[in-house]
Amino acid sequence: MAQQPVFDQEGDQRVDDAFIDDVTDAEEREIAHRERGTSRPITVVGNPVLHKECKDVTEFDDKLAQLIDDMFASQRTAEGVGLAANQIGVDLKVFVYDCLDDEGVRHVGAICNPVLDELPAERRVLDDSNEGCLSVPGAYAELARPDVAVVRGRDAKGEPISVRGTGYFARCLQHETDHLYGYLYIDRLSKRDRKDALKQMAEREPRYPVVPND
Ligand code: NI
Repeated sequence: MAQQPVFDQEGDQRVDDAFIDDVTDAEEREIAHRERGTSRPITVVGNPVLHKECKDVTEFDDKLAQLIDDMFASQRTAEGVGLAANQIGVDLKVFVYDCLDDEGVRHVGAICNPVLDELPAERRVLDDSNEGCLSVPGAYAELARPDVAVVRGRDAKGEPISVRGTGYFARCLQHETDHLYGYLYIDRLSKRDRKDALKQMAEREPRYPVVPND
């Protein structure tokens, strides 16, 4: 269970916590990751690896670093802003992101074993922007989510980290955490909107390599 976050009087910043700096050298770090990595095809809705909770990361070793590099390479190929390990078929709780917040600031990072903070009810401002997922290629749907998110987990070395996002980046943090617990955004849609999203997907060819479902 996540700790309850503490907000200051402005209501937008945890007082007693430090969030990682995932902004400095964002471009250079993203390039370095993907140049070390190998792009892999993306799993799509129906693949069992996407529909169950992933395993916790317990080994913070070179193999994990390589996985993260591969995820950055795959994310770039598919032109994504976030990617969970099970989207390249790996059953581990880790996601990467390369995403703009509501002020247009670019955030680049990776987090293992993420847990979302519960927002206090008075902080829940819902934003119903469009959302899409590399594992539901070609489809988009409006989905209401809180416009601020905080996730806590570990970095690639196993050190505890917290990441805070606003706007589209808040959406990304929630979307990617959901992936690692076996949920796609379409699982949060009404039956009708979900059906429509799957129809959009069926009508469009993916613009990047995907893993065919049997
Ligand atoms: Ni997704």
